[in-house]
Amino acid sequence: MSDNWQHGFYKHGLSERQELLAQARQLGPVGMAELQANATDQHDQFIENYVTDYRLPEGLALNLVVNGKNYTVPMATEEPSVVAAVSNGAQRVAKCGGFEAPVNSRCLVGQVVLDKLENPDRAVTDLLMHKAELLQIANAAHPSMQKRGGGAKDLRIRQVGGFVSIDLLIDVQQAMGANTVNTMAEAVAESLRQSGYDVLVAVLSNLADQSLQTATCTLSLNTLAAPGFTGREVAERIVKLSELAQVDPYRAATHNKGIMNGIDAAVIASGNDWRAIESGAHAYAARDGHYRGLAKWELTTKGLRGELTLPLPVGVVGGSIKLTPQSKLNYQISGISRAEELAMVLASLGLAQNLAALRALATSGIQAGHMKLQYRSLALSVGAEPSEVAPLVAKLTQQKRVDAAVAAQLLKEIQNERKD
Ligand code: MEV
Repeated sequence: MSDNWQHGFYKHGLSERQELLAQARQLGPVGMAELQANATDQHDQFIENYVTDYRLPEGLALNLVVNGKNYTVPMATEEPSVVAAVSNGAQRVAKCGGFEAPVNSRCLVGQVVLDKLENPDRAVTDLLMHKAELLQIANAAHPSMQKRGGGAKDLRIRQVGGFVSIDLLIDVQQAMGANTVNTMAEAVAESLRQSGYDVLVAVLSNLADQSLQTATCTLSLNTLAAPGFTGREVAERIVKLSELAQVDPYRAATHNKGIMNGIDAAVIASGNDWRAIESGAHAYAARDGHYRGLAKWELTTKGLRGELTLPLPVGVVGGSIKLTPQSKLNYQISGISRAEELAMVLASLGLAQNLAALRALATSGIQAGHMKLQYRSLALSVGAEPSEVAPLVAKLTQQKRVDAAVAAQLLKEIQNERKD
């Protein structure tokens, strides 16, 4: 089939684009209605070739106590067990006093990289001599940031593989700040070009190691007990899992994926750029050249102590934050009003998520808790109507072997019973 319909697709209005797509891919009236029902004029302004919204379920992490305050955190995720797990972890920690997450200063890093030079040392000396001037150029490119107390505060120079990187350290205040940083980096690049330097690239670095956030918690051992395991046994196994994630990148990747299950979901619901948070987290996890688990657990005299540190360069204004009604509502729900507060809550949420995952892995294994939630997805995937999900899950829970065929058969039985 010819794909002519794609030609100049972006030039059409939203309803024409939907029509063209529905015809070309034979989506039928049901498909067309789906596109229309989920589309908004506002989102049509966000991206090119827009046809509809792709929606994610949003749930709430409850009882997340951070620095003595109880937070309700909106999370957008399709993974069935994430919200249940984080709330379980958070509740366990709340019983032991909650999370502590100190307020941290935050700066973003804007990189201006010079192409390989014959004499990089000379360039470094020259650049350091002109440090104040370079910072001034950066600030002049975005004067309003400086007026608000932010702006380019410092710079560091690194030599990497023959390249020279000028890292501008920029305080973006309450904003997400990527655009501000890119504007400043490009202004510095332009001025360096005029001084005869060959600039290879000027852009924000997502290794936001100047925006690190830590969260810690300590659980008394009796709160960790599980069927067949004493609290001490569970704690000891969690510590071993933590050690494993420090030495084995295969386990570390999964350990960190679990942490990001929670952080990504809350970052998405907050309207921040979760790809930036993801890439920063993994780059930070490999900062010494070996990929390691981001959260660590140890036994202390007070109990099981967990600590998580990762870059969290989030904002509460800028980008698409609070542009949509959902995003606005989510800030109302969480009560979070400052970027520092959001970072503290996110780090605590990540640690709660990790605790729940490690406790499950250390005891019954991950599937036991997951299955009931996975069965709901399975029920929907074989065509169960919302009112049929609960009875189907109940039947699936009693089966020895479960797959799509079994679920479909049981659904038929439920539907036949209802007809009778
Ligand atoms: C699943 O999405 C995440 C876990 O595998 C994390 C972990 O293993 O630590 C449960």
